[in-house]
Amino acid sequence: MRLLVTGGAGFIGSHFVKRMLAAGEDVVVLDKFTYAGNPGNLPKGADCRRGDVAVREDVDQIGPVDAIVNFAAETHVDRSILGPEEFVRTDVLGALVLLRLAEETSARLVHVSTDEVYGDVEPGWSSREDDPLRPSSPYSASKAGGDLQVLAAVRTFGANASITRGSNTYGPNQYPEKVLPLFTTNALDGDLLPLYGDGRQIRDWLHVDDHCAAIELVLRRGEAGEVYNVGANEEHENAELARLIVDHLGVDPALIRHVEDRAGHDRRYSLETTKIRSLGWSPRREWDEGIRSTIDWYRDNREWWEPIKRSTNFREYYAKQYAARLAT
Ligand code: DAU
Repeated sequence: MRLLVTGGAGFIGSHFVKRMLAAGEDVVVLDKFTYAGNPGNLPKGADCRRGDVAVREDVDQIGPVDAIVNFAAETHVDRSILGPEEFVRTDVLGALVLLRLAEETSARLVHVSTDEVYGDVEPGWSSREDDPLRPSSPYSASKAGGDLQVLAAVRTFGANASITRGSNTYGPNQYPEKVLPLFTTNALDGDLLPLYGDGRQIRDWLHVDDHCAAIELVLRRGEAGEVYNVGANEEHENAELARLIVDHLGVDPALIRHVEDRAGHDRRYSLETTKIRSLGWSPRREWDEGIRSTIDWYRDNREWWEPIKRSTNFREYYAKQYAARLAT
């Protein structure tokens, strides 16, 4: 199959590209190479073009494909609070451009989305695929907008498209603005770990290999117009994650610093995952081992993340997001 992977130089996208190349597929990557896209995430010799999913001419340079998996997105909640416009452009307009292409060429499309579209969920409840969308942040609102375009395109134009909604994903090569690589690399450098609010927020943690396996399954066996939740049902508080990081690295727990909370911060995500499991998927990586081996990867691969943390983009973002928080 000739497969277009958009956003394929990002964290989850690049793991998916490697997986599909190993499966013998003919993969072409389209990536805008914003701050989070990294050619170093891709294997040498991978077919990769620069382009914006929100620009039809950029997408057309790829030529005919059998299938598209769309990872291209602005994904960081904190950045969406600082400036939401790019999120609408990439996450909504980009999804629409790819849908038009899929409709016109009958290509199969998998749109990679997030559990954040459901908003936070009360204790005792796990989000079902047909639950109402109640996004809390500009990021999750943009992802919900993209999801709704997909569902409308299936109904109105007969697009062969499915949606995956994954939970908090961790693993190697994640840009160090997200909590696990940020806290791990800060701890390795002896810097503070800025834990928002009381640190009791709950996320459902999923290893990137398990997430990619689910997306591949939906690509091959999912049905048009269907949404598939993807989560490992590993719910843990942020404070527990922070403690695991300092314990595993043997650094001073006093590095964990409670700071002013994220605006609109969702308290808990939880996914009901019967549908993807009934397609034959189940997670292979267990939380404690998966998190510890990921921490080890950042410890052993400084050459991957040090240039990122030294970059102007990262340093400016870090100052905007944390300087005042860490000063008080
Ligand atoms: O649930 C899926 C989503 O998971 C994806 O759609 C998003 O793209 C991905 O970024 C992630 O969203 P979160 O907002 O949950 O991820 P983040 O790593 O930013 O934060 C995880 C938790 O840790 C969250 O409750 C906020 C908290 N946190 C985060 C940062 C960056 C802190 O306490 N301090 C921090 O400095």
